[in-house]
Amino acid sequence: MIKIAVLGCGARGRNYSSIAGTMPQRYEIVAACDTVEWRMQEVAKCNASGNVQQFSDENDFFAAGKLADLLIIATQDRDHFAHALRAIELGYDILLEKPAAQTLEECEELDRRARAAGVKIGLCFVLRYTPFYRAVKAVIDSGRLGRIISMHACEGVEPFHQAHSYVRGHWAKSEGATPMILAKCSHDADLLCWFAESEINEVSSYGRLDFFRKENAPEGAPLRCTDGCPHAQTCYYDAHHYLTDKRRWLRMILDGGLTAPDEKVMEFLQTSPWGRCVFHCDNDVVDHQVLAGEMRNGITVNFTMTAFESGRSIEIYGTHGSLKGGQMWKEAHAYELSVRDHASGITSEVEIPQIDEAGYAGHGGGDYGIVDSLDQLFGEHGSLRPGLDGLAGHQLAFLAEKSRLSKARVTVPMGK
Ligand SMILES: NC(=O)c1ccc[n+]([C@@H]2O[C@H](COP(=O)([O-])OP(=O)(O)OC[C@H]3O[C@@H](n4cnc5c(N)ncnc54)[C@H](O)[C@@H]3O)[C@@H](O)[C@H]2O)c1
Repeated sequence: MIKIAVLGCGARGRNYSSIAGTMPQRYEIVAACDTVEWRMQEVAKCNASGNVQQFSDENDFFAAGKLADLLIIATQDRDHFAHALRAIELGYDILLEKPAAQTLEECEELDRRARAAGVKIGLCFVLRYTPFYRAVKAVIDSGRLGRIISMHACEGVEPFHQAHSYVRGHWAKSEGATPMILAKCSHDADLLCWFAESEINEVSSYGRLDFFRKENAPEGAPLRCTDGCPHAQTCYYDAHHYLTDKRRWLRMILDGGLTAPDEKVMEFLQTSPWGRCVFHCDNDVVDHQVLAGEMRNGITVNFTMTAFESGRSIEIYGTHGSLKGGQMWKEAHAYELSVRDHASGITSEVEIPQIDEAGYAGHGGGDYGIVDSLDQLFGEHGSLRPGLDGLAGHQLAFLAEKSRLSKARVTVPMGK
């Protein structure tokens, strides 16, 4: 039985808690902390006994000492580092939402402090726990591909998602936020390092903000979609879509948004950043970026992030065979995976276990998968060791951004 405390009971914290609540033989939620009371109460409901200590102030929560074996930290990006440091001091093992911190130096400090304190930190790299990426890892581990020589991965953010989060939303401005390659692509950077079983040695990266700029605004478009835009009927990014087919996106930005009456949503769109024309925002983060790098073990990797595609794909090239797979266009949540044997020329499909749609399909099954794995990670004989698991992927992402900004190849000094 792992006792769990939750700091930050927002969308992510509640999601993990509700999944853990379905496994009462293995996990018990014993404490919750959030500045918003109803969110904390939702987490408390995930323990059927109702025996959950609740804190509306992080100082009271930390002053109460170590209340559980594991602390889930699911506050916002800028708070992760400080919250994780305080949790390490108390000796909590930590499931930390990504990104671990705002800079590479802070991530390295978390790793050092965790090692010194004997604390295990797992990052919420939920894609590792999806049936698809587990299947990719199993193919690599089976040896069917031989020795891995190079990898290519792509993440299509999807244009409306880009607009929602990286043009109008929380991660639109580089100042005060982690770079796109970390905020959105830390999963992909992690997967490349996880599959390569190595760390980055040298990386170059390019990318810029191309489309979501003033000069691309259609003629006569006002600053807000709600101010009578003449293009409302034809614009894919028109904010009125939040009232219809894009309503699910409100879940993350408007309490009760999924069921709120249209008038309330309209009021929100007229005043919040999400009603702004995507060509008239104050965004400056990239809408496309590529990286190319060499890992310490010689494997070469390249990765493309673009707003103008939807879903992830990966190709892995080995001495015996190659692998191709990813999300299918025809069914957004379905993945396909095949392996080709060089010698025989035979291509075979790899079966991906179907996710129970009635269950927790979040992140392609990864949200369910990571909670289901908590005891294998953090339990008495768990696989994690003290330190920050997943540091390699963050290092790759931060150094790629350094390369993009400096327009220079970045090499990791030996011994780091
Ligand atoms: N692993 C993934 O794939 C994934 C996906 C989405 C988001 N995230 C990350 O998860 C984190 C949380 O995202 P979210 O969508 O749940 O955000 P959210 O805003 O819904 O949740 C954050 C919660 O923290 C609470 N909070 C803020 N400051 C606090 C404090 N000082 N003490 C206690 N509670 C405090 C807020 O009230 C809120 O309930 C973010 O860092 C985000 O980048 C990760």
